[in-house]
Amino acid sequence: MNALSISGGKPLYGSARVQGAKNSVLPILAATILSGDPCVIRNCPSILDVEYTLRILRHLGCRAERDKEGNISVEATGMSGIEIPDCLMRKMRSSVIFMGSILSRTGEAVLSRPGGCDLGPRPIDLHLESLRQMGVEIHEEGGNIFCKAAELVGCEIPLRFPSVGATENIMLAAAKAQGHTRIINAAREPEIEDLQAFLNAMGARVSGAGSPIVKIEGVEELHGAEHSVIPDRIAAATLLSSVAAAGGDVLLKDVRTCDISAVLAALSDAGCIIGVEGASSVRIRNSRRPRPMGHIRTAPHPGFPTDAQPVVMAVACIAEGMTVFREIMFEHRYNHVSELIRMGAKVDVTEKTAVVHGVRALTGASVTATDLRSGAALVVAALAAEGASEVSGLEHIDRGYDKLEDTLALIGAEIKRL
Ligand code: EPZ
Repeated sequence: MNALSISGGKPLYGSARVQGAKNSVLPILAATILSGDPCVIRNCPSILDVEYTLRILRHLGCRAERDKEGNISVEATGMSGIEIPDCLMRKMRSSVIFMGSILSRTGEAVLSRPGGCDLGPRPIDLHLESLRQMGVEIHEEGGNIFCKAAELVGCEIPLRFPSVGATENIMLAAAKAQGHTRIINAAREPEIEDLQAFLNAMGARVSGAGSPIVKIEGVEELHGAEHSVIPDRIAAATLLSSVAAAGGDVLLKDVRTCDISAVLAALSDAGCIIGVEGASSVRIRNSRRPRPMGHIRTAPHPGFPTDAQPVVMAVACIAEGMTVFREIMFEHRYNHVSELIRMGAKVDVTEKTAVVHGVRALTGASVTATDLRSGAALVVAALAAEGASEVSGLEHIDRGYDKLEDTLALIGAEIKRL
């Protein structure tokens, strides 16, 4: 059996540490192949997507090892491969980020379309168009994407949408390209800043991450580097939402509060008492039924993160009134709604809008995760629900959460893996 058994309705107390960021560590691991020197990446979460990334690195001929403390060492001296097999490409979306780094290292790459959470169409046209502008010849045949560049050439790349993945792919391809690259309308997510920090530690010249214009001055060579990955803002949002829904008093350590201000504002609207303690801790307290949170519209950073919409919706399900969500990032990001309804939630979805009418209490049920964050939302709902729940589909939750049940058990949740 692959499920979490949760006995809900128990407030959470104590302190917990937030894991390293999934969406930072994946592009950073892809960046390690830009140099043949050893690199050490610290604070890596033990999650399936990191495991898949290590498999890609080994398939390419790199040495990639993880120790028990969460440090990953990569040595790409012996990298010989240029191709990622379809079975690995399908495991996760960020396999596509290797396109920029393999091209930078070898001038040639063979991949296929990436997998990842099923959130509706997730095209890669911006990645392909941008790399073409940098001189990469790309053609698709038999399900494969063949990329070749005699030389990568820096240029100005305006993105029609601030895509996180496309911004990362361009940064990786441009770090050792000929001349300057400017990404206009770049994604501003904290993970872009973390990638910039790692590339610069390797000797790259990247600036502007966190703003809409990222500038990369290509350099001849990069060297090995050590780097510690930033805390995971969505894992933090998940733990905060757990306390908002189940009640309690929890101190979260290793949080960058500046990265989660939109989520903190929503949970504060819900009536939670939130206090930032020191540089990297946040305390959340809630002893009452949440208040409705008005209108929450997802948007690229620094707007409300789409990845936190499902867990915050679980809080809205038991609020004293109506909360309206508008999801603009992905077409199918309400996969959790039908399962929340099994637990007694009242949610009406019309295209991009979900109207949540808070109920007094949810009731435990057997529910199934169909993607990573919808799985997290079901866990949050089950922690708040009256009675026992079983959340199955853990293969989705394990892609992004480092032993979520252990972290929650540490703060008093009655949760175990079956
Ligand atoms: C990243 O996905 C994250 N994944 C996602 O995290 C996150 O939801 C998303 O950014 C938005 O914040 C990783 O970092 C590994 P995008 P990515 O390119 O890079 C459209 C999670 O739960 N688009 O910014 O795939 C696209 O369809 C996940 O951890 C194009 O049209 O996101 C979407 O509507 C899931 N063409 C929008 O842009 C393209 O070529 C945002 O996508 C690329 C994207």
